[in-house]
Amino acid sequence: MRRISNLAMACLGAVAMLTFSGAIMAGEGSVTVNIANGKKIFEEGKPDAGTAPCQSCHGEKALGMDAMRTPRLANIGYAYVVKQLTNFAEDKRIGAGVGVVMNGFAKSLTEQERRDVAAFVNSLPKATEPSDLAALKADGTKVGVPHLGLKIVRYGTGEKESMSACISCHGFNGRGADPVYPKIGQQKYNYLVDQLNNWREGARTGKADSGSRANDPLGQMRKVAAHLTDEDIINAAAFLSQAADSTPGDGMEIGNQTVLENIKKNH
Ligand code: HEC
Ligand code: HEC
Repeated sequence: MRRISNLAMACLGAVAMLTFSGAIMAGEGSVTVNIANGKKIFEEGKPDAGTAPCQSCHGEKALGMDAMRTPRLANIGYAYVVKQLTNFAEDKRIGAGVGVVMNGFAKSLTEQERRDVAAFVNSLPKATEPSDLAALKADGTKVGVPHLGLKIVRYGTGEKESMSACISCHGFNGRGADPVYPKIGQQKYNYLVDQLNNWREGARTGKADSGSRANDPLGQMRKVAAHLTDEDIINAAAFLSQAADSTPGDGMEIGNQTVLENIKKNH
């Protein structure tokens, strides 16, 4: 697997127009992404449309912020990010809390701009910034127990039959399985807890609403979350927020780049 930083270096130049037609875009024909334009949107927003810079909430390195309950966007999966922005734009996913802005912001971006910004955040050099669980605890946040979360992530909860281990879809330590399954390892703790609650609520209501998420293909995530207890949720989130992408014996380079790799290959 090629390192993503090569791609980032190659693409962050003045003009980065690349062409590809990946399986994920089947039916859309040839697609281009402009990473330089994505960087501009991420850093400056779209002032004319009243869209704030993405980095003001998602962090300069797109690694998310527990204080604002925002997600990491960097390297979680190009196709996944495009899908979420499209879902926000079509109100198939509704932002909650600070994230109420996301539906309007996604609508303010053209389809092309959504691809550009997704390509930018997924071309960023690999970086690690685990949630500070001790600080969160000190601030009164209920924080789970990582080693109990490890069991859920790797083996599922066992006694609940329809519950699957997270890694069976999201890959080792939740590092992502592009293009469908986002990286959830090293995602921010508060965001993980919020989303797991949202999926569980979505399983109950079947609705996309503030605090209820139902935009998963085939209802896969809702099925899983429906069987998680409050304790399961905070334990899994505590483990995932700290989980390494690989172990020495495992040695794989994961960048959730299958689609972007195609762009590069076909360029
Ligand atoms: C005011 C703060 C704020 C700004 C500015 C902001 N976001 Fe967000 N964003 C959030 C929050 C909070 C969420 C979580 C929403 C939820 O699910 O309730 C979110 C969610 C997302 C997600 C979903 C990620 C995932 O893992 O599913 C994407 C993608 C995203 N934002 C992209 C952007 C882009 C691109 C911009 C700039 C055009 C932007 N955001 C600007 C706060 C912000
Ligand atoms: C059967 C497959 C499957 C399993 C098992 C699974 N997931 Fe998922 N998960 C998905 C899919 C698909 C999505 C993306 C949904 C979408 O497109 O919005 C997702 C999305 C998520 C998200 C949202 C990520 C984001 O950035 O917003 C979180 C959090 C998550 N899963 C956590 C978990 C945890 C924790 C487990 C184990 C307890 C788990 N998942 C098990 C399929 C699965």
